[in-house]
Amino acid sequence: MPLAFLTAVYFDGLPWWFPDPVRLLKATTALTALGITKWYSSGRSNPSERNMHGRVVLITGGTSGIGASTAYELARRGAQVVLLTRQPASDPFLAEFVDDLRARSGNQMIYAEQVDLADLHSVRQFATRWIDNAPPRRLDMLVLCAATVLPPGSERKETPEGVEALWMVNFLANFHLLGILSPAIRAQPFDRDVRIVIPTCSSYIAAPKLDDELDGLGMKGWLDEEWTPARAYARSKFALMVFAKAYQKHLDAYKRPDELPMNARVVLVDPGLARTPGTRRWLTRGSLWGLLLYLVFYLVVWVFLKSPHMAAQSVLYALMDGGLGRGAGGRLIKECMDVDLARKDVEDEEVAKKLWEASDKLIQRVEKEQAVKRARAKKEQEKKEEEAKNKARVEEIESLIGSIKQGKANAKGAEVKKGDANEAPKKGKKKGKTAGNNAK
Ligand SMILES: NC(=O)c1ccc[n+]([C@@H]2O[C@H](COP(=O)([O-])OP(=O)(O)OC[C@H]3O[C@@H](n4cnc5c(N)ncnc54)[C@H](OP(=O)(O)O)[C@@H]3O)[C@@H](O)[C@H]2O)c1
Repeated sequence: MPLAFLTAVYFDGLPWWFPDPVRLLKATTALTALGITKWYSSGRSNPSERNMHGRVVLITGGTSGIGASTAYELARRGAQVVLLTRQPASDPFLAEFVDDLRARSGNQMIYAEQVDLADLHSVRQFATRWIDNAPPRRLDMLVLCAATVLPPGSERKETPEGVEALWMVNFLANFHLLGILSPAIRAQPFDRDVRIVIPTCSSYIAAPKLDDELDGLGMKGWLDEEWTPARAYARSKFALMVFAKAYQKHLDAYKRPDELPMNARVVLVDPGLARTPGTRRWLTRGSLWGLLLYLVFYLVVWVFLKSPHMAAQSVLYALMDGGLGRGAGGRLIKECMDVDLARKDVEDEEVAKKLWEASDKLIQRVEKEQAVKRARAKKEQEKKEEEAKNKARVEEIESLIGSIKQGKANAKGAEVKKGDANEAPKKGKKKGKTAGNNAK
């Protein structure tokens, strides 16, 4: 058949239905280029596996994008996944998400615990609950995927506690969480190979320096005039990386009672640009017009940006690769490979020390202020409740008095009526007598 076709082409030329060869070549080249670009921008797949059965994983940001893909992959492999979520576990959407994750992964060991990363008190409540648990809870992995981005042109936002929102969610909450969980991490048995995986972003390369004025960090007034969403995001990721390096040193400095070396490692991961809800919000500027353009140019987005599943590959590699459980921690992973840091000041100990001290100070200050506010609010609430109770008591007494009065009045009325009723027949008798007399 192909031979007959080729002979016919040779003698008679191309049949009428056959496309123009030049066009065909152009189309094939374009499609091949598209395929190669897509394949390249999708990134590498995780080549490592690890027995995840029964391992306990705490994951922030596990309800969306890269975090959701990571949570699914871990659950599929049998890990016990604890999703640290902004909403309470009773939230109907979250409950449905957890049910769906359980059904898809065939793993029932998936739970949600509320930790609002925009709230230091919420972070403390969860973390202290975790470390206070008796017996101590197993902890194999911490995956800190949660982050927030604001579209370009957005106004600077603060959390209800008064901390700049991006600084709080992307950096300070992680600093606080790891700070409180530190004893639980250090106390894990030696053979556990604990990993703390922290996704970062290559935007850290363009982040402004963390200068000497770290005292007002994240608070109103701190470098306000320089604030843009992109700078704030990059700065928060840069600070997170500086802290991650310092946290590894903090862990390494711990002398275990069994005198064995530290078994917990921090791994930084750059997942690459992905088509996640966060990226979509950023690309569309959170507007309907932006969303329309996003849909129109979706092919471009699809070709150049990774799927959340592919972006999660480096995170999974950081959690599962055996080699990362040996040697020094604090490595940076990109495309499932160990890569060098693009900025040397990520490892600057002086900057790390200042950042650590300033963050501690900031947390102390905010927590104190919030504790006073909470105590005041509690007092006011108690006062209101007391007043409401007193009012209710007074009303009860008044109504009791009212009903007693009413009762007395009713009794009096009844007596009067009874008296009237008793008197009426007497009068009637007299009348009868008189009538009789009259008749006589
Ligand atoms: N996507 C990319 O192109 C890209 C590139 C480089 C680095 N990264 C990094 O990769 C990680 C994951 O990114 P992503 O794009 O997959 O994220 P995403 O889709 O935007 O999801 C963010 C997650 O963080 C959670 N979150 C936000 N604020 C929170 C709060 N106050 N308390 C608790 N949870 C909160 C969200 O919870 P809700 O579901 O409740 O909103 C959501 O689960 C981030 O660290 C990001 O910086 C991403």
